[in-house]
Amino acid sequence: MSQPKVFVTRVIPDAGLDLLRPHVELDIWPDELPPDYETLRARSATVDGLLCLLSDRIDAALIEGSPRLKVISTMAVGFDNIDIQAATARGIPVGHTPGALTEATADFAFALLMAAARRITEAERYVRAGRWKTWGPMLLMGQDVYGATLGIIGLGRIGQAVARRARGFDMRVIYYGGSDEDAARAIGAERRSLEDVLAESDFLSLHCPLTPETRGLINADALRRMKPTSILINTARGAVVDHAALYQALRDGWIAGAALDVTDPEPIPLDSPLLTLDNCVIAPHIASSTERTRARIARMAAENLLAGLRGERLPHCANPAVYGQ
Ligand code: GLV
Repeated sequence: MSQPKVFVTRVIPDAGLDLLRPHVELDIWPDELPPDYETLRARSATVDGLLCLLSDRIDAALIEGSPRLKVISTMAVGFDNIDIQAATARGIPVGHTPGALTEATADFAFALLMAAARRITEAERYVRAGRWKTWGPMLLMGQDVYGATLGIIGLGRIGQAVARRARGFDMRVIYYGGSDEDAARAIGAERRSLEDVLAESDFLSLHCPLTPETRGLINADALRRMKPTSILINTARGAVVDHAALYQALRDGWIAGAALDVTDPEPIPLDSPLLTLDNCVIAPHIASSTERTRARIARMAAENLLAGLRGERLPHCANPAVYGQ
């Protein structure tokens, strides 16, 4: 019997590919850059399974134009790049990778928080530029982390992991959004209104998915409510933040700094005014990028894909409605 055909939209860690190799006929996109949309559509049109990344647009047209497709598996926890409704309507389960990247992402969110609070990337540039002349009584003064208030938007798995780290810094944790009251109590996080979280946080860390409700949530109005000494950290999705408003906020001192692992669009255009600011730390969407974590995510994505090809329930399904739930 011939093996199911699978398109993998980039070279992913062997931990995932090795699981697939014995069971499927693999077509792997070899480039560092993603296939363009038309190529993605054409390659998806003839396969039984699609293993994609968060940078691939899997829209209704692609799904409808892929008559053999039995399963879509994304190597990510977020799935805002996939038209879930269209997949569900076609009876196609969509796999994702919740849990696998929680701790690595929380580590990175905290790294960004510390970097922005203590101006580490700016200090590094200062030293390398030969500007360090002496110990300065007011040199590169930042914000205290210990004892500060951390606001979390979206107290889900990753938000909770960030809150646990904050306890080690004796931070007060307040949050908006995210439903698990027991988990919040266990980590000592207080639920507040969005307005209160914006107004009271010294650090505001975003951990919500990108949905129609959260798109542009951190807009000019929200940024104006924040403290002038506060710092915004985004490891969720770029489009949760209005970038034009953020630029104004950072330039005009509405807030003290920002640290972004995600931007809108990605990659951030080199002429983005955010790149001209010293008080904005920007990383290329690498929060989950540790060797162990990326291997685990690749394995989970492969397991979801194989389950879907066998007609079994996906271990981690983003659209359980496909199973009538
Ligand atoms: C990363 O951003 C992910 O959604 O896994």
